[in-house]
Amino acid sequence: MFFSNFAPSIKNIQKIDMTNRTFTMIKPDATAKGYTGAILDQMIQAGFSVKAMKWTKLTPAQAGQFYEIHKERPFYQELVDFMSSGPIVAAILEKENAVADFRKLIGATNPAQAEEGTIRKKFAASVGENAVHGSDSDENAGIEGNFFFSNLERF
Ligand code: RTP
Ligand code: MG
Repeated sequence: MFFSNFAPSIKNIQKIDMTNRTFTMIKPDATAKGYTGAILDQMIQAGFSVKAMKWTKLTPAQAGQFYEIHKERPFYQELVDFMSSGPIVAAILEKENAVADFRKLIGATNPAQAEEGTIRKKFAASVGENAVHGSDSDENAGIEGNFFFSNLERF
């Protein structure tokens, strides 16, 4: 049949290998300052290709859910308020060794400690408002990508 010749089975669609993928957000400080284009350019120049992307804004409840792992930390409420304060860009990126290479590209959580040339060194203002998020493991990259994107939104 025509359809079965060209459409992948639903089972294949759901088996998305995140080993070479990571998830990122350009955070509200960076979108507000007009850094979105420059930050995306640096990611692409570093060899990451875009597999999914959207411009959106998190509600406080969604930001709280996304950063649930930090809910006992003293900065949690501040983090939730900040992450829901303005638009973000969410994206799934692909490259070999994506998670580790991307963490290297963005630099340390605190931009004062980030290496020269990293995205946080160039675009982040403080440890709280640090321009970008990057997944910390393959497993979390998968969970975070699924939080934002359906299978019809990634290519
Ligand atoms: P991210 O998850 O956003 O990529 O950042 P990260 O792994 O480098 O750092 P993580 O420990 O996961 O912390 C998540 C975000 O919480 C905010 N934060 N504020 N005020 C503080 O001391 C503090 N510490 C962390 C930052 O926005 C950090 O990126
Ligand atoms: Mg983290």
